[in-house]
Amino acid sequence: MRRSAILGTGFCVPDRVVTNDDLAGLMDTSDQWIRERTGIEERRWVREGQTSVDLALPAAQQALEAAGLKPTDLDAIVFATSSPDHFCPGNGVYLQRALGAGHLPALDIRAQCPGFVYGLSVADAWIRSGQYERILVVGQEIQSTGMDISNAGRHISVIFADGAGAAVLGPVDASEERGLLSFDLHTDGDFAESLWVDAPGCMYHPRITASQLEEGRHLLQMDGRDVFRHAVTRMPESATAAVTKAGYTWDDVHLLIPHQANLRISEAVQKSLNLRDDQVYNNIMRYGNTTAATIPIALDECARSGRLKRGDLLVLTAFGSGFMWGSCVIRW
Ligand code: COA
Repeated sequence: MRRSAILGTGFCVPDRVVTNDDLAGLMDTSDQWIRERTGIEERRWVREGQTSVDLALPAAQQALEAAGLKPTDLDAIVFATSSPDHFCPGNGVYLQRALGAGHLPALDIRAQCPGFVYGLSVADAWIRSGQYERILVVGQEIQSTGMDISNAGRHISVIFADGAGAAVLGPVDASEERGLLSFDLHTDGDFAESLWVDAPGCMYHPRITASQLEEGRHLLQMDGRDVFRHAVTRMPESATAAVTKAGYTWDDVHLLIPHQANLRISEAVQKSLNLRDDQVYNNIMRYGNTTAATIPIALDECARSGRLKRGDLLVLTAFGSGFMWGSCVIRW
């Protein structure tokens, strides 16, 4: 019996720091409002001309180095993003081209905030089935180019940001007591329009019109209250389901990395699960909400800082657009 394990991690964020005071110069907001409502102090936005590869490639290279592997050791790429450089092909294709890993398969996953958790589940299934051995899973986003940077979009543009995180997965023997143990994945399409980008869309003739652009329908739209209400119940529910499925209780868990949606949401999740501060990792203060990238960025910080030690029981949980949500339990 074999399972998959994370062999190495990495992350990359743009060097352009955008502070709350910078945003207050662009719209009617304040450092105090943003900190109180979201916990965010600063975030990173790309500079004009930067692409998905500029973020995903360094993250992938770091993950490979940490795993002691070369790009040519990889068998597949699973790339989670909700903000691809182009409508088609997917971002995985551009990473494959930049990585120098040969003609390996590259699959894009559109699962928004839980995209990295969904990506881990696909890679885990491929490794368990024996189809592929070593898989690069990436979560990467450029949200800053798709937000309304004005008063009308201020409840969104203070939250979302850009970044990439990556993990290399490989097979381990089940007797090693290490690796990905369980998943819990869900979708509720009744809320598809609560956090979405309407256009361009193939249902429109043409796919985008001047009036759609004028109305800002190509920009991220969010019903913040709907998202908040569902996130604070779905994440604890799903994380608990994954912990139970793995055969554990919360007393066994060393670390929870919740999707960095909003610090208030993470705090509500922690409270509802009755977890201590040392059991939960948050870094949204420094990076904002980077959608599919929040979990792998946090994972790399925890792995490198020693916050996560070999043998620790780790839980990942995420909720976002779709609504889609999911959790994963890992023996580190
Ligand atoms: N700065 C200052 N004021 C702002 C603001 C900003 N950036 N954004 C919104 N406001 C104002 C609103 O215009 C409104 O003003 P009004 O009362 O005069 O109409 C007031 O603040 C309250 O707005 P509302 O949207 O009702 O705020 P809220 O209490 O729901 O908080 C969020 C807004 C976005 C912080 C909150 O809904 C939230 O955290 N939602 C979850 C979002 C999230 O995590 N998304 C990621 C999911 S992956």
